Amino acid sequence: MKILAVSDIELPLIYGPNIRERFHDVDLAIGCGDLPYYYLEYIISMLDVPLYYVRGNHAHKTEVTCFGERKYPWGADDLHRRVRQNASNLIMAGIQGCQRYNTGPYQYTQGQMWALVLSLVPKLMLNKLVHGRFLDIFVTHAPPWQLQDMEDLPHQGIKAFRWLDKVFQPALHLHGHIHIYRQVSPVQTMFGSTRMINVFGFREITLDDHSLARGKFKILTPEYKSTELLKQK
Ligand SMILES: [Fe+2]
Repeated sequence: MKILAVSDIELPLIYGPNIRERFHDVDLAIGCGDLPYYYLEYIISMLDVPLYYVRGNHAHKTEVTCFGERKYPWGADDLHRRVRQNASNLIMAGIQGCQRYNTGPYQYTQGQMWALVLSLVPKLMLNKLVHGRFLDIFVTHAPPWQLQDMEDLPHQGIKAFRWLDKVFQPALHLHGHIHIYRQVSPVQTMFGSTRMINVFGFREITLDDHSLARGKFKILTPEYKSTELLKQK
């Protein structure tokens, strides 16, 4: 199974006529925020795949497009505060937004983020009982606290996300929000057994179909250079 994850910036490679040719083998798409609804709808309609998403801090309550008014991207599945299991047995959960830094939408204090994350816990516990694991993919816009985040207030990581990763150890944590302009910025980190990826732009992630069929989760690609992979405990 191949996942196409997108976040933060629109790319002509995706929002263009060659998307089918380039991404014909994608089975599932995930949006990590700060992308317009028409962009997500384009991916859904051109690739004909399910798309799960969370909103970023630059999302609008209402988006006016040439196709009309949108309060959400048509055909996409909002993961905010939700736990979903798709047809391939992947268990996904998400939290939208980032650290509050002004009066804009989809911003939360660290305390509010704790409340949002804790609201997921009963469903994660139930997953452990029913499926033998808490969560496969955690999807957020902001990064966890002091993991692939930055020091300025708008880009500080979320403490509750770090706690969730540490306690429930999803196989994959996908986030956006941190724009990558320098080669030295970390874009992937192993945090315990959780592989954390800053999606900024797009990332393709391939999962092992045999492990998925057994209700497990094994990531085949992307493979990382040693300089890209930080290990944190
Ligand atoms: Fe953002």
